[in-house]
Amino acid sequence: MAKEPVPVPSSPQVYLPGPEEEKRLAGFFAARTLPPVLEQGIGQYITKKVGKDWHDPVILERLRRAIVAQKDDYWKPVQKRSLQYTKAYSVLGYLAYHFPVYFIQTEYLLAMLAREGLLKKSMIVLDIGTGPGVVPLAIADFWSRLDGAKADVYSVEQSEEHIEAFLYLRDSFVPKGGKVSIKPPKKADITASDPAKIPQQVDLLVFSNVLNELSDKSPEQRADLVVHYAERLAPDGTILIVEPAEEAVSTELRVLSLALKKRGLTIHSPCTYIWNTNCTPDRCWSFVTAPCIRPTRIMETLAACDEPFRYVNIDIKYSYVVFRKDRKTHETYRVPAGSRVLRLSQIHRHVDKRINLIAAKMSENLGDARNLMFRLCDGTAETPVFAVLPSFHITPENKAIVSAPYGAILEFRSVHVRYNPKHDAYNVLVSRNTRIMLLERA
Ligand SMILES: C[S@@+](CC[C@H](N)C(=O)[O-])C[C@H]1O[C@@H](n2cnc3c(N)ncnc32)[C@H](O)[C@@H]1O
Repeated sequence: MAKEPVPVPSSPQVYLPGPEEEKRLAGFFAARTLPPVLEQGIGQYITKKVGKDWHDPVILERLRRAIVAQKDDYWKPVQKRSLQYTKAYSVLGYLAYHFPVYFIQTEYLLAMLAREGLLKKSMIVLDIGTGPGVVPLAIADFWSRLDGAKADVYSVEQSEEHIEAFLYLRDSFVPKGGKVSIKPPKKADITASDPAKIPQQVDLLVFSNVLNELSDKSPEQRADLVVHYAERLAPDGTILIVEPAEEAVSTELRVLSLALKKRGLTIHSPCTYIWNTNCTPDRCWSFVTAPCIRPTRIMETLAACDEPFRYVNIDIKYSYVVFRKDRKTHETYRVPAGSRVLRLSQIHRHVDKRINLIAAKMSENLGDARNLMFRLCDGTAETPVFAVLPSFHITPENKAIVSAPYGAILEFRSVHVRYNPKHDAYNVLVSRNTRIMLLERA
């Protein structure tokens, strides 16, 4: 039986953005662009590294080849990948193609942590597998919109090429003596024994797009690694793990999350265990989407060719999990004893019947504009469950499924259960007669 969530008093150290800071954040997210100084820094770094202007057709062609090779590698089964980042062009391709999306994605995650009260006025961050410094640089940019918070950011990375790019971008983008101090990354293998020179107590530990690259490690070994670093986490510290939304990688993250929960870390979000059970994560493919970014000038220049779509990376889709040691959770709702709602583990007994249920919304619309579909989870289901809603059935009484944020807990009254043999999944059909209520957070 899982532990009950406990209300955790908020520490005086917590930093919550005020209305002016929220306005600045909203301005950044509305613009959907990489900060111009950083974009220029990437162009200048490529130019410096290759000794020719980055617009040069030969350089552009080499960048295209590097991007395609990296993507081809990524889609191989995890064990067959060879992502090494030892060659200059693999890192230059990363800067041109992946960096902009991951940078803005990180800012969304930081905004989420800030609004959850998980940032502190003064904090120490450790970013594991930092690459060209996506997370530290995004922290510097995010903090530039906060009035009274500061941070020291440490990181670990094994690729010299990434470290060189990181230091160049840091020096061209982050003001010296400012609110955020970014220390040079520690060059080390993150799976080897504890690297020296990283702080003993950390307030935020980040693994962004890195654990899936440990292709020789089982989920249990990856969990051991996270637990090992978590030993350095402050009692009120936070761990953030992010992975791409691709199905296999995203599902592996949920398997890892459960393994970490069983090792005593509390999942703060996005998962909630409203029946106090453990879940069956093997087919849990759940990710967040955010508005796409505007392509950078480098992307647009690379895309001026026969296959432009291959070089423009603007979609933000990611899977994440936040852990705490102090049992703080995003949602504290638990289904009250005696409730007449069905556990999703029992849904197979109710095919073609109407039921009531309580579950979290675990996706944005996965269908299309005419037939909306949302992933649901109550922590008990062994087979995936989706709420399906034809757009002509949307009413004020059921539209909470559309408007509620990712992770919100909803009560459904009167949905019709169908089994979908093609996908081995259950659909609960929402009709005009269905009522859906957002269960307010405590
Ligand atoms: C996909 S990149 C992610 C970079 C950055 N965190 C981001 O989100 O964009 C993965 C990074 O992890 C690093 N990495 C992978 N395995 C590592 C290991 N065993 N030790 C140190 N770094 C590692 C790679 O060199 C690469 O820079």
